[in-house]
Amino acid sequence: MRKEWSTLALLFALMLVLTACSQSSAISEPSDPKQANQLEIFSWWTGAGEEAGLQALLKVFTEKHPDIAVVNAAAAGGAGTNFKTVLATRIQKNKPPDTFQVHGGAELNEQWVAAGKMEPLNDLFTQQGWMDKFPASLVQMVSKDGKIYSIPVNVHRSNVLWYNKKVFDQYGLKPPATFDDFFKAADTLKAKGITPLALGDKEPWAATHLFESVLAGTLGPIDYNKLWSGHVHFDDPRIKLAFDTYKKMLTYVNQDHANHNWQDSVQMVGKGEAAMTVMGDWAKGYLSNDLELKLNQDFGFAPAPNTKGIFIAVTDTFGLPKGAKHPLATKKFLEVIGSAEAQDAFNPIKGSIPARLDADVNKYDEYGKTTIEDFKKDFITPSLAHGSAAPQGFVAQCNQLIHTFVAQGDVPSALTALKQAATANHIGSKK
Ligand code: BGC
Repeated sequence: MRKEWSTLALLFALMLVLTACSQSSAISEPSDPKQANQLEIFSWWTGAGEEAGLQALLKVFTEKHPDIAVVNAAAAGGAGTNFKTVLATRIQKNKPPDTFQVHGGAELNEQWVAAGKMEPLNDLFTQQGWMDKFPASLVQMVSKDGKIYSIPVNVHRSNVLWYNKKVFDQYGLKPPATFDDFFKAADTLKAKGITPLALGDKEPWAATHLFESVLAGTLGPIDYNKLWSGHVHFDDPRIKLAFDTYKKMLTYVNQDHANHNWQDSVQMVGKGEAAMTVMGDWAKGYLSNDLELKLNQDFGFAPAPNTKGIFIAVTDTFGLPKGAKHPLATKKFLEVIGSAEAQDAFNPIKGSIPARLDADVNKYDEYGKTTIEDFKKDFITPSLAHGSAAPQGFVAQCNQLIHTFVAQGDVPSALTALKQAATANHIGSKK
């Protein structure tokens, strides 16, 4: 797989250099000097587990550019729950922020780039000498038709099982590698009166998040990827198996899951009220920084059941929307977030790994170091719940149908709804 990537990377780099040469830059700053030195950054990184990393990133930026006033315009809600609606309205009204958080993959390319809303950034990439500083797989996720449209600041891993170390030690349990191991451990915990699996799906994406790990676990990484490219069909029996397995898993979750958000479910594990949860590694930022718990003493990590060797990747990126009021200040911000210095200030706090290949591994704890290695050797697959695998319309319909499934447990209806959503959004049929 690495070989295929390197040939692809060479071809891809050549295409991007050619595109950069032919690109013209018609960007200028507002003539009103009062407007010039501002920068509105729009993200959903606010509150517990989210804000500390952003503050570290902004600190690096303001140290370098004290003359630029940052407007931190965050909209609360995990995975961009509220942010995405606000952003869509602003872009529709031609009032975009100067830069905004966007996931690499379909969310960037099929929603904003395809609609002609983003400026290409190949010139920045070449000026900064970044072509060999980011993995080709990531550059591809932020590119369309040879043009690069955003700068990845990190890579989060979606398919992580977080577990309470003391509870596991007390009952002589090991992190479950397979679905069978998971159900055995869950039975032991249930018999002891401990909630085996914490879920907080008040924001429906969290239920899709758990489902995507189960789906990757039943399909395996190659066929999980082929599902999004149309080479595995939505009536594949392993998709039914994913819903069956998910349904069984849901019998081990906290009853009040619909009243809680992702931080609550992670906190349940941190406090030992539940033994495990499947959440992206922003959970580590929350466990370590907000709850002040210790990795490998209070909590441990492992790949979600049946996903060893699979890395479901979520990359947070920032770009330059067309019509942004302060494009030059935005480019300065993008320059900073693409630097190793800023990535190494942000990611150890955020729980993610740096997008750059030359970051300083010594700045990362054991989780970070392990994840940096896994990202090099594992099979990389895009996240569905976080908008990289498929366009936003499909993700929204999946959130809806999985939300209904969690409440009703009707596998045939969920399968029908999934197939309908795939057809409606041309998943698999256009490639
Ligand atoms: C983002 C993370 C964020 C998480 C929870 C994900 O979609 O990529 O940066 O921490 O949502 O809000």
